[in-house]
Amino acid sequence: MSESRGISTICLLDFSTSAPAAKAGPAEPRPETFRRMLVKPLIAGNWKMNGLAPALAEIETVAEIVSTSLPNADVLVCPPATLVHRAVQTAAGRIAVGGQDCRPEPSGAFTGDISAEMLRDAGATAVIVGHSERRQYHGETNALVAAKAQVAWRAGLLSIICIGETEEERTREQHLKVCKDQLAGSVPEGASANNAAIAYEPVWAIGTGKTPTIAQIGAIHAHIRQCLVSRFGTAGTDIRILYGGSVKASNAREILAAPEVGGALVGGASLTAADFHPIIAAASAT
Ligand code: PGA
Repeated sequence: MSESRGISTICLLDFSTSAPAAKAGPAEPRPETFRRMLVKPLIAGNWKMNGLAPALAEIETVAEIVSTSLPNADVLVCPPATLVHRAVQTAAGRIAVGGQDCRPEPSGAFTGDISAEMLRDAGATAVIVGHSERRQYHGETNALVAAKAQVAWRAGLLSIICIGETEEERTREQHLKVCKDQLAGSVPEGASANNAAIAYEPVWAIGTGKTPTIAQIGAIHAHIRQCLVSRFGTAGTDIRILYGGSVKASNAREILAAPEVGGALVGGASLTAADFHPIIAAASAT
């Protein structure tokens, strides 16, 4: 698929404020405040295996609120594959719709799987890859996640590449190394703000109500930024780093204001407009 299709994807999510195309190479990262002015936060909802047709009403409500309140955020909802097409119709361009996974091959004998091209065909403009639940329940490796991210770009989708340590790794203070290794293995060459976002999701914070402290979030996001810049140069300064794991109305503002946090990947609190909207609104307040 042509690159121009990828660019139109970016426009739908209003990445037009992203930095101009930059060549990889050594670069000084720009000050955090300047980057925040250039790149809007991305607030993405991951519905996981939740949602039947009536849940489309929640998308309608969120889309309506977004179109009238014009928050300073790109808003994305990733429903289950069965709802992607109807979600796109419901959203009608007011918010973006994405998938939760894709297989690297464009088509073939892979019963039950879905390709990036199929998601794009259904109207999606983004896809989550390498979520810890995929890594855990489907044995996904870094190499497979990188392959998925790459096909997603070819199909014109923004890929949200997930990384994050387990509780045991955090206890053993291995989290910096784990995230560095996951970034090195899961993020393909050519990553930029136009085709990728990173979601840092500590496994122990997902669906548990536990969150790292703001200082811990700031420290690991700074580490992730450093890894991206040392590998991608200027392009690495603008890739959004989302925080995920028990984000909710009551903690969103503080988390989104932390250094190097460029948005949120929200699970449980994205299932209803009542819970999701305050998180979107918090992005405007940071
Ligand atoms: P949670 O899930 O917000 O329910 O913790 C986040 C995620 O898994 O993406």
